Amino acid sequence: MNFWDSVVERFGDNLETVLIPGAPLLMNKIVQALQERALTNLFTSVRFIVVAEMGVGIGRWIPFYASKDKYAVGIDISRSMLKIAKHKVFRAKLSNVDLILASVEAIPLRSNIVDLSLSITCIQHVIDETRHKHALSEILRCTKNLAVFLESKSMKNPMTLSHYYPTLLLPIKEYIKIFNELKGRIVKLCGVDFLPFFWWLERTRDFFYARIPNLKIPLYGGSLASRFMRSIYHIFACFSIALSLPFASLLGKNLVPSRHFLAVVKKIC
Ligand SMILES: C[S@@+](CC[C@H](N)C(=O)[O-])C[C@H]1O[C@@H](n2cnc3c(N)ncnc32)[C@H](O)[C@@H]1O
Repeated sequence: MNFWDSVVERFGDNLETVLIPGAPLLMNKIVQALQERALTNLFTSVRFIVVAEMGVGIGRWIPFYASKDKYAVGIDISRSMLKIAKHKVFRAKLSNVDLILASVEAIPLRSNIVDLSLSITCIQHVIDETRHKHALSEILRCTKNLAVFLESKSMKNPMTLSHYYPTLLLPIKEYIKIFNELKGRIVKLCGVDFLPFFWWLERTRDFFYARIPNLKIPLYGGSLASRFMRSIYHIFACFSIALSLPFASLLGKNLVPSRHFLAVVKKIC
């Protein structure tokens, strides 16, 4: 089974499926609010007719960009994710959205056809460096105007691979270099979610995932020991989010310490 299908099987139509697996709901709601703060202005201030979201997932953002006069395409590698997104489209009575089962590494769209391309925590999951760069070039290939990337980034200079979720974290200067090579001009670059204590907690969690064999995301139900570990994680998560919140509101958009970056890239034709 595709990794992402198994995530859906475990979490269903829930923020945990597309944000932080195993984290308390409050944590995921806060991350969602911070991402929304970074993105919603873009959806309203940019003029576009055709929008394509790569790695559309459960369709979290579809209602934000698929208003009636626009045409939207959602692409994802997971059939189960797309099924949930399809229900959302149906419930919202949107008849202008197509959902396509495909990989961002081979986007089934013509070149220069999309006004606004989105990759919201999608590219980061292409964990092979060469394929990661190729996926970025695929997005820019089919983009006519703007491409928006909201992705995790490495805090240090070397790239890192996280273990609890297959995620490739590149340093921001590497992204800047790639966008330049792909003839994309960065028109906006900022941080999304500066949550210092939570970041440390996630690093600790990743440390254990990397070292304990068979520790799969996330520990749910199961033995008493695994339930105990999950409860400990939840308690620490609540403390870390409470301590991080003042930083998120004061320095939230600071690029350097933020967990994710937002890049708006204009395609130079
Ligand atoms: C963390 S989720 C984010 C989903 C959505 N963008 C959101 O913000 O709610 C990552 C999504 O990327 C999709 N994905 C991962 N690798 C992909 C690939 N190579 N091509 C297309 N989609 C991919 C996964 O199936 C998953 O739905």
